[in-house]
Amino acid sequence: MIHTPLLLEGKPVADALLACVKSQWEAFQAQQPQSHAIPGLAVVQVGSNPASQVYVNKKAKVAKELGFHSEIHRLPAETPKEALLACLEALNADTNVHGVLLQLPLPAHLQPSEFQSVILPEKDVDGFHPQNLGLLLAGQTPFAVPCTPAGVMRLLAHYNIPIAGKHAVVIGRSNIVGKPMGQLLLQADATVTICHSKTPNIEEITKQADILVVAIGIPQWLKPSGVKDSAVVVDVGINRHAETQKLVGDVDFEAVLPVCQAITPVPGGIGLMTIAELMHNTWQNFVREQA
Ligand code: GUN
Repeated sequence: MIHTPLLLEGKPVADALLACVKSQWEAFQAQQPQSHAIPGLAVVQVGSNPASQVYVNKKAKVAKELGFHSEIHRLPAETPKEALLACLEALNADTNVHGVLLQLPLPAHLQPSEFQSVILPEKDVDGFHPQNLGLLLAGQTPFAVPCTPAGVMRLLAHYNIPIAGKHAVVIGRSNIVGKPMGQLLLQADATVTICHSKTPNIEEITKQADILVVAIGIPQWLKPSGVKDSAVVVDVGINRHAETQKLVGDVDFEAVLPVCQAITPVPGGIGLMTIAELMHNTWQNFVREQA
């Protein structure tokens, strides 16, 4: 039998989610013409990390395409802690803003956790506030679920990938991806293993995965030797190839494609899902506030 791997493209799924948000927003405007409220997303970037620059611009562009209010706050790399806190507190108090996103990474002198807990949980579109992460861990409903893991789950659902009873292996233990990803897969009844930089013999574990989510941050890290032929491979990485300058994921796509059952491309996979989930979270915050 000829093995034809399934390409898990993010675009149709992300476009459908954005279209759903847009139609709900248009319906809101039609039903409440007297309301001047507009969903607002504020993105804060500290320093000038070139990748962050691209992501932040993209988030603002998609927000504008939906007809949302969008603002970007660019602060210099040497911004003191107090100034960043003041910026976030002003956004908390701003009634035009329903979602506040602090783009990571931050410069080394600023600890993300000190700021993530300052953004109001109901304006936290990343789902990184300890209250939101705690509700996720408790199996309750947070105001927002972290965008990338939420996007992975939506993508898997769209392509009818079964999760219950499967062995899901997550590579990476960040608060942004690995930890919430593990929780969402666990809630969907997978048996979850989270691996990280200190995991020995990592390929022995990845080779057991039915679902393999790679968020290790190393370009083209996953090789065919770490993949079983029935695996569904989800690549969360976005890296610039050192020589070609092309965007590549954490999976060696060309090499892994022929040996797996299904795989997400980079670009065109999870990155699109993350942005669409961010818009969905912003919209939901807006709706909750109107109620
Ligand atoms: N940097 C990379 N991914 C993310 C994300 O999902 N949210 C934020 N705030 N920063 C990021």
